[in-house]
Amino acid sequence: MPADNTLTNPKIVVLTGAGISAESGLKTFRDNDGLWENHRVEEVATPEAFEQNPSLVYRFYNARRAQLQQDDVQPNAAHQALAKLEQALGDDLMVVTQNVDDLHERGGSKSVYHMHGKLLSARCAISHQSFVWRDSFDHTTKCPCCHRVTLRPDIVWFGEMPLYMDEIYTALAQADIFIAIGTSGNVYPAAGFVQIAKESGAYTIEANLAPGATNALFDQSLTGPASQIVPEWVNELLSNYAL
Ligand code: APR
Repeated sequence: MPADNTLTNPKIVVLTGAGISAESGLKTFRDNDGLWENHRVEEVATPEAFEQNPSLVYRFYNARRAQLQQDDVQPNAAHQALAKLEQALGDDLMVVTQNVDDLHERGGSKSVYHMHGKLLSARCAISHQSFVWRDSFDHTTKCPCCHRVTLRPDIVWFGEMPLYMDEIYTALAQADIFIAIGTSGNVYPAAGFVQIAKESGAYTIEANLAPGATNALFDQSLTGPASQIVPEWVNELLSNYAL
């Protein structure tokens, strides 16, 4: 908890990463050797990979999209706890996720900033329009807007600009509390959010199974599985602030 818990309406920014969805049945990127069909994720998640080997990239995202929609992939108690926090805090909470799954939304969150895009979405490479997309698609699939074969995964790849950066930096500058949940702190700009929040005076918390790469920048570490430590943190926060 922050030293000053006299705040009545704390402004909170939550950053989530693959670790929050691990107990929902989705693999993280860097915990289990990070390989997919013998490719490191960095090799399939780039504009260059899409240009050189589009069928590999379509296959990678089609497999992940299908997996996300299997019955055994469901939101866990950590996603649900953040939805409960949203109900209490409203606009004073911003949930930013690096995850491309929809488990926050299925867990009840109404407002989630998907800075790395969404798996259940396809984007026209020409108009940049996004469409809800639950099925597989590839280089033969026609785009609903231009009727050409221009659809790409609606994912922010390595080397591309993450989404909502203005909104996120504005919220970080105003945050009283910043918490990073289940992210290894290896991928920027998200890994730099803790520094920005700290410089703006926020109390910073890392919630993870193990310390991440930027652990030294956090004021507090909550160690354990997200499904346990996140609900505990939310409940403590709600009672401390009488929310
Ligand atoms: N509870 C809490 N934390 C967990 C759990 C769990 N059950 N399981 C794993 N973790 C932690 C790991 O200790 C690790 O620090 O989650 C983190 C997952 O790290 P990464 O696999 O690196 O995922 P993330 O930080 O989200 O990756 C960032 O990299 O590949 C790109 O664009 C992709 O958004 C992704 C970005």
